[in-house]
Amino acid sequence: MLVLALALAAAAVGGAAAVSDEEFARFPRLFHLDDYDSCLSQPDGLYCLGTFHVTPAIAPNPLYDQMKEYSKDVNHFNRTQLHRGYCVSSRCAGASAEERNSSLRFEQCASRWARRRGLKVGLQRLQYCRSSAQEYARAHNTEPLDLAHRVLTAVVYTLLACNALGTIYDVLLDDDTKKNSLLTVWSLRSNWRRLTATYEDKDPRLSALGPVQGARVFLLTLTMMTHAGVIHVMSYSYNPEFIEKMAHNPNMTLFFNGTSVVQIFLVISSFLLAYNLLILSKDHDISLRHLPFCIIKRIARICPVYLLVVGFAATWWQRVSSGPLWPALVETESAVCRRKFWAQAFFLNNLIDSKEHCLVQTWFIAVDMQLYVVSSVLTLVLVRKRRAALRVLTGLAVGACVLNALLAYVFNWQALLYFVNPENLRNLYYDTPSFSGLYMSPWGSLPACLIGLLLAHVHFEMQESGFKLATVTWFKLPYHLALPLTISWILGGNWARQYTSPEFVAAYVAFERPVFSILCAILLLGGFNQVESILLKFFNWRGWHAAGRMSLSVLMVHWCVDMAFVAARPQPTITSTIEVGMDFVSTMLVSYLIALPLTLMVEMPVQRFISNIMIKVMHRTNK
Ligand SMILES: *[C@@H]1O[C@H](CO)[C@@H](O)[C@H](O)[C@H]1NC(C)=O
Ligand SMILES: *[C@@H]1O[C@H](CO)[C@@H](O)[C@H](O)[C@H]1NC(C)=O
Repeated sequence: MLVLALALAAAAVGGAAAVSDEEFARFPRLFHLDDYDSCLSQPDGLYCLGTFHVTPAIAPNPLYDQMKEYSKDVNHFNRTQLHRGYCVSSRCAGASAEERNSSLRFEQCASRWARRRGLKVGLQRLQYCRSSAQEYARAHNTEPLDLAHRVLTAVVYTLLACNALGTIYDVLLDDDTKKNSLLTVWSLRSNWRRLTATYEDKDPRLSALGPVQGARVFLLTLTMMTHAGVIHVMSYSYNPEFIEKMAHNPNMTLFFNGTSVVQIFLVISSFLLAYNLLILSKDHDISLRHLPFCIIKRIARICPVYLLVVGFAATWWQRVSSGPLWPALVETESAVCRRKFWAQAFFLNNLIDSKEHCLVQTWFIAVDMQLYVVSSVLTLVLVRKRRAALRVLTGLAVGACVLNALLAYVFNWQALLYFVNPENLRNLYYDTPSFSGLYMSPWGSLPACLIGLLLAHVHFEMQESGFKLATVTWFKLPYHLALPLTISWILGGNWARQYTSPEFVAAYVAFERPVFSILCAILLLGGFNQVESILLKFFNWRGWHAAGRMSLSVLMVHWCVDMAFVAARPQPTITSTIEVGMDFVSTMLVSYLIALPLTLMVEMPVQRFISNIMIKVMHRTNK
């Protein structure tokens, strides 16, 4: 389906600009990089990277007017800005070599180039200037390691030691002896068995949730595919025209507007929480007093891998490679991770300093945790008033949609579809308040969370009353229509995009994600009740289970991997369906390879270790 869309997209490209090919060919290159390594191997080498804005040197300049005209289309890059990586020391060896201020030297150097074309340039944003001495220190690791690097290294060694100890202990003792559970949780052998087990739960109610793992793998694949494209746009492209043509393509809306698939993760996550608690409530007396346990359990699952990868991104990531784009893409983001580390650690990164992103996918982890608290409170309160639960949750869900519409109207926020374009993506929405205000915000995803809770209650009540959804005929129609409707809803963005009045945009914000979540909830409800469909067979495949359990690790590492691939390239990257596809496939393979040890040696043991301690504490307090 998506491959087909990509192929269509590649075939159906057509220029919408009023600029002819011949004129277009005279435009200066949008991105250019001089040779980085040979530049900085010279003793006085100086390499600078930055963005210049262009103006005409003398007033009537047809070339400039066309560049300006071409840039008016939001689906085009702004061609009056040029992105340059210059080896200032060799390119402008003569006159400006006296200048001590390297940013001035860079600007003068670019001016010399522009003057020959009747243009003037001004440095708009300097990403970095680097001298041979600085690059030498980096390449030979002569910079001293700071505390953060050493702490992370110590943590990794400790984890390795625990794993080694636990594994040896587990393997050496035979299976009959009673083993210390605090040690065996670290055993690679036992964690491997858990990772590859197909039936984790003897409870049929829980094994009916099998398709969730398949759905997770599928959604994560879509996420990585989209991010592969995003990273190409953020990098220097050899042929930015391809990106511009793609931006015009109506089929690409599947990707631009399809980011709502992330909402399914949230529906699933709040469903699982509420459903497990509801099952538990049949035999146990649970109440709000259990909130801390719920939250600790969640933190124990997310935090180890999450903090380890954010810690890596803040420290060692920037030392992995080098290249002209490396400081601009990786080192800059790494610095953000370091600055925002505590916001990340407390899951507030989408609210604090939200314009700058450390591993952009972590907004989802923050929102998921924030909404997890909301879901836990609601479920624990409603567990005693199950009769009112459906009405209360429906009311809250409608309220959340109205709230989003109001916020969108008051603050002029828009759905992603309205502001996704090459220039915005290149800065990862730095100048777009809607992205942090709405897209990454907890309230933006609140409807999905409430729909997940509703789903859990509906599913649970149906089971309690012995209602068999699989035998009901009227459910078949919405169930089989849900997938085509979801895709139509995403593509419907092409239609919605034409209407930009604040009222319409606010209404679209109110409906966009919730409709998506409801359609997915119908699919999930049918799937959990084993209503026959091809899709269910696909997601029920047991092979998904192991991959599904690695989802958190894959979600965390894929950005670092893909970014490292692209940012280490010495020249602007070629952007085409095939190149993006190759980056996506190699990122996916490498991410799963890294995720395997992360899941086995960090996520699983630490989670089991903490829950073991928690059980012990609970026993003691109960006595
Ligand atoms: C393009 O960039 C220039 C200079 O930075 C800016 O003045 C102009 O408004 C931009 N054009 C568009 C269409 O955004
Ligand atoms: C270099 O010049 C720029 C522009 O005039 C100025 O903003 C910057 O502070 C200068 N840098 C140094 C190190 O003097």
